[in-house]
Amino acid sequence: MKEILYRNLRLKLIAITLAVSIGPLILLGMAIYYQFGNLYKDRIEDQIRTLARSQSNAVDVFLRERTTILAMIVETQPFETLSKQDNLARLFTQINQRADDLGLVDIGVIDKHGYQLAYSGPYNLKGLNYYQQPWFDEVLRRGKFISNVFMGFRQVPHVIIAVKGITGNDPWILRATIDSEVFNRMVRNAQVGTTGDAFIVNREGVFQTTPRFDGVILGNSGIQTQRFGEDSTVIAKRDETGDTRYIGGVWLKNREWMLVISQIAGQEHGWMSNARNTEIMIIAIGCLVIVIAIVMISNTLVRHLEQTDREINELNSQLMQQDKLAALGKMAAGIAHEINNPLAVIGEKAGWMEDLLDEEEFQNSENYKEFFSSITKIQEHVDRARKITHNMLGFARRMEPHLDDVDVNRVLDQTIDILSNHARINDIEILKHFTDHLPVIANDQSQLQQIFMNLINNAIDAIGNNGTIDISTQLEKDHITVSVHDNGPGIPEAIQKKIFDPFFTTKMNGKGTGLGLSISYTIIEKLGGHITLESHEGEGTTFVVHLPLVLPEKK
Ligand SMILES: Nc1ncnc2c1ncn2[C@@H]1O[C@H](COP(=O)(O)OP(=O)(O)OP(=O)(O)O)[C@@H](O)[C@H]1O
Ligand SMILES: [Mg+2]
Repeated sequence: MKEILYRNLRLKLIAITLAVSIGPLILLGMAIYYQFGNLYKDRIEDQIRTLARSQSNAVDVFLRERTTILAMIVETQPFETLSKQDNLARLFTQINQRADDLGLVDIGVIDKHGYQLAYSGPYNLKGLNYYQQPWFDEVLRRGKFISNVFMGFRQVPHVIIAVKGITGNDPWILRATIDSEVFNRMVRNAQVGTTGDAFIVNREGVFQTTPRFDGVILGNSGIQTQRFGEDSTVIAKRDETGDTRYIGGVWLKNREWMLVISQIAGQEHGWMSNARNTEIMIIAIGCLVIVIAIVMISNTLVRHLEQTDREINELNSQLMQQDKLAALGKMAAGIAHEINNPLAVIGEKAGWMEDLLDEEEFQNSENYKEFFSSITKIQEHVDRARKITHNMLGFARRMEPHLDDVDVNRVLDQTIDILSNHARINDIEILKHFTDHLPVIANDQSQLQQIFMNLINNAIDAIGNNGTIDISTQLEKDHITVSVHDNGPGIPEAIQKKIFDPFFTTKMNGKGTGLGLSISYTIIEKLGGHITLESHEGEGTTFVVHLPLVLPEKK
């Protein structure tokens, strides 16, 4: 019952202290963790955005430059000149000589019917008709056009830049090809670290450059470009390996292409995830230390409480015992006094009757024997009643001890002397194991003798016939102990608590009054000592009297 109480108390203590100490710590940890996450995300997004913006600017400038060069040619060179193969070839050579990194693969002049009238470049494309090409119409309609990457006649991924010119009423087109490898090179700069990627897709998500990882040029990237806003946007995505990949996109070329930069979280910002892991570890260790400390403290606390409870209980039962005995003391004095007088009268009258029996007339009476045995019985029982009242009166009187100089070994010797005959008759051996030269203490000699007498008498009664009583004395730090051990039947645990109660006896036929131990108990307490008991059924009993080591004052 009590066990459960203490266990519940311990659990409650642990739970409450844990809740108030670890709760805030975990909250703090979560807040920091969350802040870290945000900071981390912001940094990555910033980096991707900056990278994407600068790269997209480069691509845009590149395309605009080429378009402007073509537009300048259209405006400054007449159609008749340019449509001549030789003139065009010369112009193309000149342009490439001036600026060899323009990236133009070839150049061609196309008339309003789609025929390529002049062509300069590595392929033989002169005379081809572009009328059916989707871009042909676009150029005529919008004046300028930059295509998506496509294979075209050459079966090489390329981009076409075309500019419309007008001669009289007839439109014509100057068209140049850019090898898409140029774009590949441009975006490669933005492929950061070991997991960063950069590529261009068109509005439909088709690769315009070769991505670093999965995918080929003109293949589908799976990127939904409509999810990206007007300006640069960053989207976080979890990939198959569980890593978070941040994808940033910036529109190019009048929102027809998008430069995409992607990066796995943690790659470029290792220090940040390290700091976050350290933070988690510190908090986890903190929690563990707190848990261990709380469990240990709670255990110690509850154990202390248990111990104190036990001590209080013991004290309580001692107080109860003393109360009982004190009440008995008062009552005993009254009763004993009241009974003593009638007893004295009965005893006296019985004695007188016994004397009368000596006279001749009674001696000759046929009832003489019966008279005699009756009177003897009356006297016997009066004696017994006197013994009880004597004990009770003694009990009441002995409340205040009288201090003498006491040699405990000597008091024991005297007591054993008195009882040795009684023991010998019953074949009981009394063995002494005294510690020599015990200090003389201030105590009540006759009361001590009464205690020892009670204990030894009890031992003799318990053994009955044939056994041993061991009596030993010992000097301890602040007291002297006297132990009386017998190898009698022992005291059953159930009655061990009761034996110090007044009138508790197991002795039959009125042989015991049940006052011996309760009187001894009271006396010892009054003398500032205490008595303890250890007994196991079938093994024997040991009573230990602890006497305070109070040295007599020098006279
Ligand atoms: N050494 C012992 N071994 C076994 N039982 C004991 C021993 N000492 C005491 N007891 C038990 O304790 C009871 C109470 O003892 P207590 O001395 O108070 O009274 P009592 O011996 O019965 O009577 P009285 O002392 O008046 O002769 C005894 O009746 C006995 O049952
Ligand atoms: Mg007794």
